[in-house]
Amino acid sequence: MKIVESLAKGEGAASFHQGLAAQIGALHEEIRVEPELAPLGRIAVALYDPRTDLLKTFIHSSDGESPLDHATAPLSGLPSLVELARVHGTRTLNDLSEVARSGHEYAARLVSFGYYSSHTVPICGREGLRGFLFLNGIVPGFFTQRVLRRLKPYGDLIAQMVLRELDALHSMQSTVKVLLQISAVRDGETGGHLARMARYSRAIGLRLAAPLGFSDEFVEYLFQFAPVHDVGKISVPDHILLKPGPLTPDEFKVMQGHVERGVEIVDLAVGDFGFISTAHLRMLRQIVACHHEKLDGSGYPQGLKGADVPLEARIVAVADVFDALTSRRPYKAAWSNADAMDALRHDVAENRLDGACVEALAECMSEIVDIQVLFGETVVG
Ligand SMILES: [Fe+2]
Ligand SMILES: [Fe+2]
Repeated sequence: MKIVESLAKGEGAASFHQGLAAQIGALHEEIRVEPELAPLGRIAVALYDPRTDLLKTFIHSSDGESPLDHATAPLSGLPSLVELARVHGTRTLNDLSEVARSGHEYAARLVSFGYYSSHTVPICGREGLRGFLFLNGIVPGFFTQRVLRRLKPYGDLIAQMVLRELDALHSMQSTVKVLLQISAVRDGETGGHLARMARYSRAIGLRLAAPLGFSDEFVEYLFQFAPVHDVGKISVPDHILLKPGPLTPDEFKVMQGHVERGVEIVDLAVGDFGFISTAHLRMLRQIVACHHEKLDGSGYPQGLKGADVPLEARIVAVADVFDALTSRRPYKAAWSNADAMDALRHDVAENRLDGACVEALAECMSEIVDIQVLFGETVVG
């Protein structure tokens, strides 16, 4: 229990700014020490999810607000970026005001934030396109051949850092998936469940990002870590995990133990995933440790109440319950989305689930349906 108790109060989502974002921020400061490179006002990274064709804002380092936060767009709708990725080329626009005048909305937005030039580089790994690096200058004409030559090693370094982080996250998820698939968990909860609930978590996180001050990095890690929530189920014996009828109180106790086993597995594995920063590890542990806590204190294992239930765990709980209700399981048929939403709202009324998370989910129902179509039960996500 000690491990789980230590998690009850994290520093919260607003302080989620370590790891990759901090490294890129530090590098940005370093670059700007050079007078010639000082006009580099913004470095931003967007990630590409090839399974959904979505380009997602991820990390930025800039003087003030980012001109583009909490955004996703299908890459296929951005032909100039598709072309850059295809030819592995870069794009330099040294007069964004001019581009803005010709009707480009995003260029106009950059100009309104004080950025007058841009340089875009696709980030490609072994498996193809993984994202884009966007550099912006606070003066027009900043990206001369000489400046580009000097910035190239930094750009390459950032691309390597992003690729390394994505590879590490991918290997963590693959490990969890293998662990779950070699255990009986696979019979009840397929890879499709993990792929869907991770994307529902992300959709909820994005909706709440502006009002609650989540960074895009926070939302991305929520998506990456959500599939780990039930890793502790590998410790639950098959006869309990697969029991078609209701569990006896003793069996239920064993089942509940999956939460603390999960935290232990995360702690054991974390040495192998040394990339995880303190803030990221806190999020991962909170998701695993608190995804069965309820706001009224009736959850387990700690019976946390209200504000003590971490936000990331509340989001994952809503995503998890919604997918469990709308999926077919050996002991029940799949509920309709409307019936599942009614059940979630009932839990909100009873002060078990977080109302903001449930309403955020309700607001993105068309996205939810897309996810259900893309990641149906036959998909191993
Ligand atoms: Fe669970
Ligand atoms: Fe689950």
